[in-house]
Amino acid sequence: MQRVLTGITTTGTPHLGNYVGAIRPAIQASRQPQVDSFLFLADYHALVKCDDPARVARSRLEIAATWLAAGLDPQRAVFYRQSDIPEIPELAWLLSCVSAKGLLNRAHAYKAAVDANVAAAEDPDAGISMGLYGYPVLMAADILIFNAHKVPVGRDQVQHIEMARDFAQRFNHLFGRGEALFELPEAVIEEQVATLPGLDGRKMSKSYDNTVPLFAGGAKATLEAIKRIVTDSRAPGEPKQPEGTALQLIFEAFASPAEAAGFATALREGLGWGEAKQRLAARIEDDLAPMRERYAELIARPDDIEDILQAGARRARTVATPFMARLREAVGLGRLG
Ligand code: TYM
Repeated sequence: MQRVLTGITTTGTPHLGNYVGAIRPAIQASRQPQVDSFLFLADYHALVKCDDPARVARSRLEIAATWLAAGLDPQRAVFYRQSDIPEIPELAWLLSCVSAKGLLNRAHAYKAAVDANVAAAEDPDAGISMGLYGYPVLMAADILIFNAHKVPVGRDQVQHIEMARDFAQRFNHLFGRGEALFELPEAVIEEQVATLPGLDGRKMSKSYDNTVPLFAGGAKATLEAIKRIVTDSRAPGEPKQPEGTALQLIFEAFASPAEAAGFATALREGLGWGEAKQRLAARIEDDLAPMRERYAELIARPDDIEDILQAGARRARTVATPFMARLREAVGLGRLG
């Protein structure tokens, strides 16, 4: 059995990048017979970026409804909230005690925050919380408490998974007494969609405000967002070069290779950007429309979603609680007698 695990941080509204980079591959994997899936809402991670309780609460509901609408079967996959599993922050502490500060200094999100402070002639650590600094340790605990083998993610998360391997190796070395307590997890990246571009061509990201929402706002919002995709303005009559453009790459994320090649050819042969955007929106809608209907039904029933998450947390803890007891024992925190 292969254990596949991934999570989404509950800040904001899910976008196409989350869907193609993590949700879609994780759900596809969860349908395979030899796979045991752990899919979750990373709501402790949300607190690192957001101190607005109403927003975190709303985003948890939206992201839970998104997973279910996208086809997650909670009978099959273990579907839960990070904050319902107390073993996760407990393990994060044990890992903190063996993780090198020098390694955490190199984490992209922390470094980006320091660089922004330096550029603004501020104190390098101004406004940086311990939560941001220790973010990779909490993420490692998410993965290692369930001994996941494969972690489907977009490219921006690869460094975190490499760090999780590093912490796991060190922990195994210090406390395993010749036995591997932790599996070494691997990132699963779908090359084609590892970094889906956003409206301005940079990575699609909540922080850049360049996203196409997955369900929020309905088909109209999807089309409105797609109309804002930046396209280059060549001289009239000059052939377009669709390869590598945000429009083409987003189309490729939803189409077969043959369909995507046809789209590029049509653009080179004179299809206007406006018409191309309509075609892209229609292609995405083919996939999203049925899910959006389910999403609308689900989001109206938060109590049912709550029950599903609590049942998921109970299943998750049947793994996490005994494993945590073993880890406590391994580091010397077992019972006295
Ligand atoms: P988050 O919430 O930022 O993003 C969730 C997932 O979506 C992927 N993603 C993308 N993939 C392709 N193109 C994009 N433009 C794009 N934008 C986002 C992300 O790579 C991610 O896979 N730290 C994580 C959440 C997390 C987690 C975990 C993931 C917490 N614990 C354990 C895996 C395992 C995060 O903030 O993802």
